[in-house]
Amino acid sequence: MNLTTTSDPLHVNGQRLLAQLDALGAVGATLGGGVCRLAFTEEDRAGRALVTQWMRALGLSVRMDALGNVVGRRAGRDDTLAAVMTGSHIDTVRTGGRYDGNLGVLAGLEVVARLNELGRETLRPLEVAFFSNEEGARFPPDMMGSLAYVGDLTLAEANASTDVDGVTAGEACAAIGAVGDAAVPGPVPHAFVELHIEQGPILDAKELDIGVVTDVQGISWQRYTLTGVSNHAGTCPMAMRHDAGFVAAQIACEVRAMPPRYEGAMVGTVGFMQLSPNLVNVVPNKVSLTVDLRNVDADELRRAESDLEAFVQTAASAEGVTVQRERLARFEPHAFSPDIAALIRGHAHTLGLSQQELVSGAGHDAQIIGRRCPAGMIFVPSIDGVSHNVRERTHPHHLIAGADVLLRTLVSLADEPIAAQQESA
Ligand code: HGY
Ligand code: MN
Ligand code: MN
Repeated sequence: MNLTTTSDPLHVNGQRLLAQLDALGAVGATLGGGVCRLAFTEEDRAGRALVTQWMRALGLSVRMDALGNVVGRRAGRDDTLAAVMTGSHIDTVRTGGRYDGNLGVLAGLEVVARLNELGRETLRPLEVAFFSNEEGARFPPDMMGSLAYVGDLTLAEANASTDVDGVTAGEACAAIGAVGDAAVPGPVPHAFVELHIEQGPILDAKELDIGVVTDVQGISWQRYTLTGVSNHAGTCPMAMRHDAGFVAAQIACEVRAMPPRYEGAMVGTVGFMQLSPNLVNVVPNKVSLTVDLRNVDADELRRAESDLEAFVQTAASAEGVTVQRERLARFEPHAFSPDIAALIRGHAHTLGLSQQELVSGAGHDAQIIGRRCPAGMIFVPSIDGVSHNVRERTHPHHLIAGADVLLRTLVSLADEPIAAQQESA
């Protein structure tokens, strides 16, 4: 990377951004440099309070809606125009790193800080958001907050989601004081751009600086509840067993074996599995497990879902085990705005940054907001492609480079001439 040392002031203050990332990373910090701020927990509350405080210190007007989505707004010369929005999430998975989501929110605040320092107004208002419960790791679905923000999930549906202890998202959101009075759904932005770490190995392996994200792959989350018969591990003959754990193990092996049978770089994961009674000398009578299937090819994803369902039914009936299936999340593949991708490409090029287009393996709030307005994503490399892991790392110069590309992309969008018919529509 050879960052052009142009006199152009449109560069972020990299050290300030890195310091903010470290300060937020200290909230819910875990051993090994990770972060655990599951949605609507005390750690999430503390992270929200810190970021909201930073928003106010930047002079942003802050609104929070009934699901805890928070938006900081910087006035534009013409405040009647729809805002250009950036942002991401600050909730994490249990084994989270300090950049997943957090980078997009704090880089957005750094853009505001830099424009304030430069005394640089933009024609349109600029907004920086963090959406609640993007991870969906405690309360499915993922991207819950942005889904509610665009009106594709009702508040009642979101609040009714429960965690493994039976706590609802509504109760947990209220418990941390994250029920605000701003409208749900929220105002549709003029455009949305999200900076995020790649969370995969491509950019790092190819020693590239920037990923211009063209698409997000489709996502299918399902929860299976398998019910058999508990029995004595010593006395119950094998032929008499209805072993829910055996069926669960077959499903996990099948999900691992499936991907090569499909086009579109399919991936499959059994990430959650709870056996009951989970005792050394009892044949398990109940298993709850989740299956996460993803594919950029919509038809192949559907084919995989139907093949998996057939496999589960066959395996369960052979063992005399019953099956309940619940859909936790389902997202079609999403294509981002080619115009915003071109803008990102252009700014990365001006900054002398190496780049390539790529498809996102992870889901993001941008794909949800992008249902209502043109949206795009900027990726920076994840070292060794590791994420959702305390060892999640990105080189500081890439964090800063991504924020520079975000700064220029947002200014371009916020200052672009208004097409008369566009605003009157
Ligand atoms: O699961 C995902 O892709 C995202 O991290 N929520
Ligand atoms: Mn994320
Ligand atoms: Mn994540």
